[in-house]
Amino acid sequence: MIKTALITGAARRVGKALALHLAGQGWNIAIHYNTSEGEAMLFRDELAKSYPHQQFAIFRADLSRAEEVELLIGQVSLTMGGLGLLVNNASVFEPATLGQTSAEFFDRQMNVNLRAPFVLSGNFARAFQSGVIINFVDTRIVTNQSSFAAYTISKKALWEFTKMAALEFGPGIRVNAIAPGLTLPPEEKGEDYLWKLAEKIPMKRPGGLEPILATLDYILNNNYLTGQLLFCDGGENLGVTN
Ligand SMILES: NC(=O)c1ccc[n+]([C@@H]2O[C@H](COP(=O)([O-])OP(=O)(O)OC[C@H]3O[C@@H](n4cnc5c(N)ncnc54)[C@H](OP(=O)(O)O)[C@@H]3O)[C@@H](O)[C@H]2O)c1
Repeated sequence: MIKTALITGAARRVGKALALHLAGQGWNIAIHYNTSEGEAMLFRDELAKSYPHQQFAIFRADLSRAEEVELLIGQVSLTMGGLGLLVNNASVFEPATLGQTSAEFFDRQMNVNLRAPFVLSGNFARAFQSGVIINFVDTRIVTNQSSFAAYTISKKALWEFTKMAALEFGPGIRVNAIAPGLTLPPEEKGEDYLWKLAEKIPMKRPGGLEPILATLDYILNNNYLTGQLLFCDGGENLGVTN
């Protein structure tokens, strides 16, 4: 398998941490971004300086737009000379209950969080005989809470897609999902927000990025693992504690 990864939404936050981690293990990285162009460029330059013998390039695509999604794998492949790993990390996470959700709002969550990974994965499987796909879902998929209704439905469906893709794309391509829990606070909130929520989960603390990176390594190093969902959530999927 060629050691080149495309990570969507890699200019910031979780995606950036995944890219930095993989670069440290010798991977070439295709850094996908949408609006964070300055951060993507800066990050590419930092990586190129730290790892001068590896390849780093940035790719902009609005994953809510079908035509831009369709082109991405081909563009990356042309520039990077192939791909061995696709990480579907980019996501929109917007609150609205079922009753508050308009068709346009629904489409935005579904198109970025489900349609884009669906199409990117299909294009990846058509283009390459072997590789790994990792889809980022969310521990919320075990609940029926509707405060982020369209987001939650999109991630539930992405997990179902993960199993279907593992069945169809094997044996050459393994497809797994990671379900983070309390990892990074939303931009407008601080760590306090996560610590408050953590009072109700078994581990009683936010996880941060380390468990996600450990799970990424586990998936990459276990070549018999496919169609699986790994919760990185301190037990949050089990329900609330007393
Ligand atoms: N953070 C957590 O605690 C947590 C918890 C549970 C699950 N997760 C999941 O883990 C993954 C990473 O989380 P995160 O908090 O790092 O995500 P995030 O900051 O909400 O979003 C990551 C990136 O997605 C990109 N994106 C959004 N809309 C896009 C569009 N239309 N086209 C292309 N890219 C788009 C953005 O890129 P630009 O900035 O370039 O526009 C953004 O930087 C997500 O799939 C999320 O659902 C995270």
